[in-house]
Formats: sequence, C-alpha cells, structure tokens
Amino acid sequence: MEGNEMLVLGIETSCDETAAAVVKDGTSLLSNIVFSQMDVHSKYGGIVPEIASRKHIEAIAPVICQALENARLSAQDIEGIAVTRGPGLIGSLLVGLSAAKAFALARNIPFVGVNHLEGHVSAIFLTDTKPVFPFIALIVSGGHTVIYLVKGAHDFQAIGQTRDDAAGEAFDKAAKLLDIGYPGGLVIDRLAKQGDRRRIQFPRAMRDSLDFSFSGVKTSLLSMVKKKGSPFDENELPDVAAGYQEAIVEVLVEKTIRAAKVLSIKQIVVCGGVASNSRLREKFLEETQANGMEVFIPPAHLCTDNAAMIAVVGDSILSEGRRDDLDLNAISRWPLELLDTCSLS
Ligand code: KG4
Ligand code: ZN
Repeated sequence: MEGNEMLVLGIETSCDETAAAVVKDGTSLLSNIVFSQMDVHSKYGGIVPEIASRKHIEAIAPVICQALENARLSAQDIEGIAVTRGPGLIGSLLVGLSAAKAFALARNIPFVGVNHLEGHVSAIFLTDTKPVFPFIALIVSGGHTVIYLVKGAHDFQAIGQTRDDAAGEAFDKAAKLLDIGYPGGLVIDRLAKQGDRRRIQFPRAMRDSLDFSFSGVKTSLLSMVKKKGSPFDENELPDVAAGYQEAIVEVLVEKTIRAAKVLSIKQIVVCGGVASNSRLREKFLEETQANGMEVFIPPAHLCTDNAAMIAVVGDSILSEGRRDDLDLNAISRWPLELLDTCSLS
C-alpha cells in the first residue's frame, strides 16, 4: 500500500451528523456525504444524545454506501478506514466505530481511530492553498474553543482554551434564549447581516489571557432578555445578534493573532463549525492582512462536522504504518494535549 496512493474511507459520528467520505492520497476528496440530524434535534433546542445514537444506527450503512457510490468505487477498492474515536457523545461514537471495525474486518484492511479535533484542523489539507508546519490553529466548534501550536502532523500543543462555554455553545445558547432556532451560530450569522454590530455592546472577557471565557457574554444577554420582559421584535433582533456575534468574533480573532505574534508564526488555520461564520472569516482576513500574516479557512462544508477531515488524518497515520486493533474503544473526553492516537492506546 503506497502512502501517496491510498483510498481511505472516513467515518464520523461524534455528534449529530452521520458522515462518510472517500479521500485519495490524503488530499483529494472523491466523495463527502453528511446526513444531518438537525431537524430531529431542533425542536428540543439542542442535541438529545440518545436520539442521536439511534439516528446514527439508521443512517450509517446508507451513508457509507452513498459515499462509495459517489466516489464511483466499491467496497473492494477501499484500502484503509479512518473513524472518529473521540471526543464526542459516547453512544454516537460507538456506532461509527463499530461500523468501521465491521468494514475493516469484512474486507481485511487496516483501520485507525482518529481524534475529531485533529480532523477539524486537517480539513485544510483538502483545499488548494495549504499551510506549512509550524502554524497556529484555532478550533472553534460547538464543544471546543482551543488555540493550538501545530508543530507537525500529530504534533499539537494547546496554548489557549475556553475555561467555560465553547464559542459555538455561546451561539447555540443565545439562539435558544432568543427562541430563534438551531443551530444558533448559523441563525445568528444570518440575522447579524442586517444588524448594526456597534449599537449594543456585550462584554469581552479575559482580554489579557490566551484562554477564553464565553459565559459572561451569555449571562449578559440573559440579563437583557429578563430586563426587557418581552421577546425582541424583528427590528431589534438583528442588532442584538450582530452585537453578540461581534463580541465573540472579536476575542477569537484578537487572541489567535496574539498567539501567532508571541510565537513569531505567520500562518493561521481557523476551523470547526464556527469557522463558517461570515463575520469571523471577514475579520480574520482583515486582521491577518494588517499584521502581515496569512489565514487559511476551509470552505463552510469542511468546517462543520464531516468525514473527509477524518480520512485525511487516517491517511497520514496509515501511511506511517500504524494501525489500531479491533478492540479499540471510543473516548468521550479526550485530553486536549493528547491528540496522537497512540497516546491513549
Ligand atoms: O464542528 P461542528 O459542526 O460540531 C462540533 O464538533 O461541535 O460545530 C457545530 C457548531 C454549533 O455550535 C453551531 O452553532 C456552530 O458550529 N455554527 C456556527 C455557524 N454554523 C455552525 N457558528 C457561527 N456561525 C455559523 N455560520
Ligand atoms: Zn466538530
């Protein structure tokens, strides 16, 4: 099996997306299927773990078949499997992991468990303009907000992280408070486009640190909602959304650029679901240009959860000759410093 010619099937089921993708040589995307459970969970205003795992069980086989079909391949063509091992919802992770093991066993091909966060960063290697190690990576998702110094493949050092809510969580909780839908980040992004981001000022926390805190901005919105006593109307909502979004975006950009400056690094990768936010992308472009740096952000469909990013990491691990055994377990909480699959075996 040549490292640069491998066809890897990626599987991702850590949260509420059932996803499968085929990637060739770690850089070329042949298919990318994402079955979102958003509609099922939106009526609860957030993900219900038990429902998520049941939906994964229903969707996993058809999603894998579709990924093979779209890549114009059969199961016999696949040379390696990469599956998200964690972090994530344990019941959901187990569905993907079991499917990956079954596929690997039936076809007698190697499989590896992949860290979901490393996957988010590696999505950038599917784009035309790729960063060069070492670079800074900001991962902003529904469950994580962390700045890494990425020294090489599988060599990550966390240098800043949230002390409470993740940025995506701050968006999701705000949208729930305002009763405007789910997932919150997407809804607030859309609303904010018609709003004035300077009219309402929300707090920016921990300005002197590379760590983040988003619980204050959420509490500030909660106080505003309580004080008002009635729902915001159509004219007020865009300004609330734009002001709230700006408070989150500003600290994300400011701290990431500061981390790059401190370490004298000129390339920044921004990834994870929140990286699809239009204002975050715009502000990162402006500020990196102003500071003589370069920002790399995957297209929106590779920022939110997908299996292509998992296949990219899998390709790299398999190319190094590493494999996991069929008794590999899932890891719900994976320490930020231990991204390497071998560290927890
Ligand atoms: O990476 P992801 O798909 O799943 C996790 O690993 O968490 O990220 C999901 C998060 C949710 O919190 C969602 O509100 C947020 O990404 N998100 C956005 C946008 N689209 C999704 N946040 C801000 N702006 C968006 N356009
Ligand atoms: Zn994610």
